[in-house]
Amino acid sequence: MTRAFNQRISDALMERERSNLLRSVQTLESGNQSVFHKDGQSFLNFSSNDYLGLASSSELKHSYQQAIGELGVGSGASPLVTGYSAQHESLKSALTEWLGFDTALFFSSGYAANQALLLTLLTKGDLLLQDRLNHASLMEAGSLCGADMKRFRHNDLAHLESLARAERSTLAVTESVFSMDGDLSDIEAFVGICQTRGMLSMVDDAHGIGVIGDNGLGACGISELKPEILVVTFGKAFGLNGAAILCSEEMGQYLTQFARHYIYSTAFSAAHARALLQALSMIQTQHWRREKWMELSAMFEELLSDCPEYVSTSTPIKPWVVGDSARALALCSSLKEKGVWTTAIRPPTVPRESARLRITLSASHQHQDVLMLANQLTRFSEEG
Ligand SMILES: Cc1ncc(COP(=O)(O)O)c(C=O)c1O
Repeated sequence: MTRAFNQRISDALMERERSNLLRSVQTLESGNQSVFHKDGQSFLNFSSNDYLGLASSSELKHSYQQAIGELGVGSGASPLVTGYSAQHESLKSALTEWLGFDTALFFSSGYAANQALLLTLLTKGDLLLQDRLNHASLMEAGSLCGADMKRFRHNDLAHLESLARAERSTLAVTESVFSMDGDLSDIEAFVGICQTRGMLSMVDDAHGIGVIGDNGLGACGISELKPEILVVTFGKAFGLNGAAILCSEEMGQYLTQFARHYIYSTAFSAAHARALLQALSMIQTQHWRREKWMELSAMFEELLSDCPEYVSTSTPIKPWVVGDSARALALCSSLKEKGVWTTAIRPPTVPRESARLRITLSASHQHQDVLMLANQLTRFSEEG
């Protein structure tokens, strides 16, 4: 029996290695900032989702430190036991008022929030329609939840509509900003179709919240129509970690009663909730952070748009598509030698032959950082 497991494990690892798809954990010796240290070398970091530069902001660090001094470091329990505090409640009020939902439930990660929603809501006989590029957390929960899952072509809402079935309880799910491509979905059209076809709508706003829309309102800031369920995560523009599901009062009550990821998991701490509230206030008021990455984005475009690997996006996510996995790895290594850190994203995370560098810009980058990156990318592109 053990031999069978050993064989399976070694076969899978060998196959990953053979196809240049082996992944490895990277240990940083400093925090995840725009410049970090690793193995005694410093690197410009173009591989972080800290789009607004909040993760290392002195203002947010100070607020978190103060909250820890006052409230301690751990919540000690799940929300329904003794893990939910007045700080969570304040965060809930601020978030629901800002985004226009009745209620919010907090989770330790976006992965858990997405899993909780799909696994709690859907059952055998239901129909689940998902954009084919939705995140792994949504796809995995979709295949485990018992519903009949169909994937519509990326951002093809006519295809979504053609899959709708009036007689079946249906949930349709899209991301607002697609994590590996940096492109946007048309939230208003998506929600509109869901409403006319009697489908429940859900938007994963992990990469949109804090970044797109007026005042960083995310998906809710670019659409007149709101989805019934919105998932926001705190590990990207918020600079921290955790997530929330925003929904109606009744849906919130249902999830509170039945969502196992909510009921049986330790809540993030009160100090963390206080820091998230501070991050929210910075997102709402510090417009210069969004203006900064937009300025860097315009510079990136001006310097690189003639290269065939360049993909134009209106978000801080800048895919640099090279196609072949080995070539993506080679580019990554060559950038590292020059002190520039990017991550090669390879299948199965992205479709075959579309290996890429997932480059991300942040308000914490400087103009000379983008210039340095662009010079290296241009050199590699010209060398073919
Ligand atoms: C679209 C999307 N949803 C959900 C998640 C999961 O969020 P978390 O990192 O908080 O688990 C991610 C993570 O990268 C994501 O890109």
